[in-house]
Amino acid sequence: MEAGEARWAQTYPWLGTDPVPTAPCTSPEIYALEVERIFKRVWLCVGRVEELPEAGSYKLKRLEFASTAALLIRGRDGVIRAFHNTCSHRGNTVVVPEGPDVHRDQCGQRKAFTCRFHAWSYNPEGELVGVQEEKRFPGDFCKERYGLTPIHCETWQGFVFVNLAETPPQSLTEFLGAMGEHFAGYPYHELDFVFTYYTELACNWKIGVDAFSEAYHVNTIHAGSFPGTFSTGLQMVKLLGDHRTTAVCFNPPKEAPPVAALAQRKARGSLVENVAGTMLPSSINDEGRDDFSFELSVFFPNWLLHVAEGIWFTHQFWPLGHDRCLWEGKYYVRAPRTHSERWALEHAIVLQRNAWLEDTATMEGTYYALRSGAKPHMVLHDEEVLVRHGYHVLDRYLEGAG
Ligand code: FES
Ligand SMILES: [Fe+2]
Repeated sequence: MEAGEARWAQTYPWLGTDPVPTAPCTSPEIYALEVERIFKRVWLCVGRVEELPEAGSYKLKRLEFASTAALLIRGRDGVIRAFHNTCSHRGNTVVVPEGPDVHRDQCGQRKAFTCRFHAWSYNPEGELVGVQEEKRFPGDFCKERYGLTPIHCETWQGFVFVNLAETPPQSLTEFLGAMGEHFAGYPYHELDFVFTYYTELACNWKIGVDAFSEAYHVNTIHAGSFPGTFSTGLQMVKLLGDHRTTAVCFNPPKEAPPVAALAQRKARGSLVENVAGTMLPSSINDEGRDDFSFELSVFFPNWLLHVAEGIWFTHQFWPLGHDRCLWEGKYYVRAPRTHSERWALEHAIVLQRNAWLEDTATMEGTYYALRSGAKPHMVLHDEEVLVRHGYHVLDRYLEGAG
């Protein structure tokens, strides 16, 4: 190997260079451990404060791995709280999921949250305030004891996180650590025009996270949608506690196709454009590279946050079992002000959709083939350092040392 070819192995020698076992991507036993030691103990991002704009606003987020759903409600005091969506009487669902699509996040607004079974009713702070025929319950019955069961809930930069542990081992700030500082200060709330794609995938959740954690695949998988665009490799890789982040830099194409060029002039809606700006906090692109395109990051365990000039987007992979997951992709820009900006944004959305379809198309194939057991290890390229770090952190949690 020539000098410079293993930049990240040299920067992070403690990660090693050995092949990485594939069993965590296929084993039901390892999945069961992940649920107990990771997903039920760490902070998980479940939404944005903008989804809960006023008192009584709620969002229902299924957490299938824990056989529950988090009911997020903004109280009349402005505080966002989270509860299990389970009635204190005989355990029915309090907010009943609407429609046939079980994976659609359900948002709305209510003055009271009334169980449809026997009409026990809760206020937006989760307290039980109404019980039918209350006098016929035993003499010591007292409503104060039977509020909704809370889930720990904290916010960071407008992102709402929950933690299912009875006593979380860390606060959200401690859990995010330097990663929270690295991504603080970006104007997430100003870029609030969002489009979302989501689907269930027949693969382990980590196969999804891994596919978005490297740029090694760009010249092959995205040869059509982003030809020769991101060919400078990862830059400014930072492994921050359980989390990881890197800059992805940009090789401008000599000539954009005419429609793309027109769309890029009208609106900053696409990543395939390089503008120097001041929106990014100083911790991002701290080397000041003028070919910086976007920051690619993985917040352990299942959330990827990417920020760029004028755009931010997220991917999240929710485990539904060892062999299935829910992928959610969300893309945020400033709301368009004119029809031509709206059109240009539509162009960017379609381009991004194509790229995400290219990405997600690999995931089920990888899982299907790994199930054969033919490949007990994966051999990682130096540019796949974030993937390697992910398994390093995973091992630590599975050993019970998370
Ligand atoms: S189960 Fe909710 S009121 Fe009876
Ligand atoms: Fe990709």
